[in-house]
Amino acid sequence: MIRIDSVTKRYPDGTVAVDRLSLEIPDRSITVLVGPSGCGKTTTLRMINRMIEPSEGTILIDGVDSRQQPVNTLRRSMGYVIQNAGLFQHRTIVDNIATVPRLLGWSKDKARARARELMERVGLDASLARRYPYQLSGGQQQRVGVARALAADPPVLLMDEPFSAVDPVVRKGLQDELLRIQDELGKTIVFVTHDIDEAVKLGTMVAVLRTGGRLAQFAPPAELLSDPADAFVEDFLGADRGIRRLSFFSSAGLDLLTAPIVAIDASAEQIARAGTDVPYLLVTDVEGKPLGWSEPRDLTAGTIEPAELLPCGRPFVAGRDSLRAALDCAVLSPTGWAVAVDAEGRAAGVVSQQTIGEAIRGAHAEGSRSSETTKVSG
Ligand SMILES: Nc1ncnc2c1ncn2[C@@H]1O[C@H](COP(=O)(O)OP(=O)(O)OP(=O)(O)O)[C@@H](O)[C@H]1O
Ligand SMILES: [Mg+2]
Repeated sequence: MIRIDSVTKRYPDGTVAVDRLSLEIPDRSITVLVGPSGCGKTTTLRMINRMIEPSEGTILIDGVDSRQQPVNTLRRSMGYVIQNAGLFQHRTIVDNIATVPRLLGWSKDKARARARELMERVGLDASLARRYPYQLSGGQQQRVGVARALAADPPVLLMDEPFSAVDPVVRKGLQDELLRIQDELGKTIVFVTHDIDEAVKLGTMVAVLRTGGRLAQFAPPAELLSDPADAFVEDFLGADRGIRRLSFFSSAGLDLLTAPIVAIDASAEQIARAGTDVPYLLVTDVEGKPLGWSEPRDLTAGTIEPAELLPCGRPFVAGRDSLRAALDCAVLSPTGWAVAVDAEGRAAGVVSQQTIGEAIRGAHAEGSRSSETTKVSG
């Protein structure tokens, strides 16, 4: 575990970049440092691997003062990734990734074999191995940066705004990849960003810093969204805090109705039976996949035309997706009802905005009783 204990960094010109910061960074999880420009994120990260020495306080790595470890040993136990990847322009991709293993004395063949293995792990095509960095896209270069940091299998990864320079779509891909790698390899990752959405998505724990290098709040993202410590944190979290918090609640508990679902080849009797009490019926194909909505009285057995149905839009996956995803489906639906599907895309049920609203109120009440909220997808 990395423990930052009352650390201050005062630069020679008197600037206090970090002010008595204390953080316990849990093992095998992602801790995000987030805050406005100049709040001391990079300085904090660089003090962890001693690229910058603290003015006061101590940083303990597995209980040992980092100053007592040889600086080279310390740095090799911590992969470092920066914005724009910082690759060696005159080295091929495979040799960039093999840098640290080579420094550690591995043979060229062994280091390159390791590099190729890592290219696959970070989602880079093997055909890119012999190229030079300038022959790669920004997103690909960033993946090389991650692979290079992982090359000697360090227990810790320090990442300073690694995905800031790429467009939102590529960025989402890189974030998903990082979560997957973290899942597989269980690294301890300290991740710096000024993007609160990125912090909420990636962080197991999130430290919000304010200008002057002071800690504003250190909490799991769900708690940050539900209980911001003060006006600064609330402001930094931005709009839609309530909606975004719904990402942490599963749709599993939603009461789905299956009665208002009819297949396109339904009999008159089936349509009549389904159409009591509900304003709309969901029509599916013969495999059970949603086609669209109709008012019960507009459906006549044997003559249902998919083109005449109201579109049902993108459904949510029951149980897997969050309440946020379910609410989004209902809000976008022309009927106000959301369609839930199973993993195969077959209709699992329908649910009204009102029922989702009740589930949200229930989840909030539950959430304020327990801080154990885990992230769900969607
Ligand atoms: N070598 C230095 N000498 C003096 N002041 C410095 C030095 N390096 C950084 N600072 C100052 O320390 C403060 C924190 O800088 P730091 O780079 O840690 O911020 P940051 O949170 O990473 O910002 P950004 O989001 O812009 O990257 C800033 O006010 C910066 O100007
Ligand atoms: Mg910085």
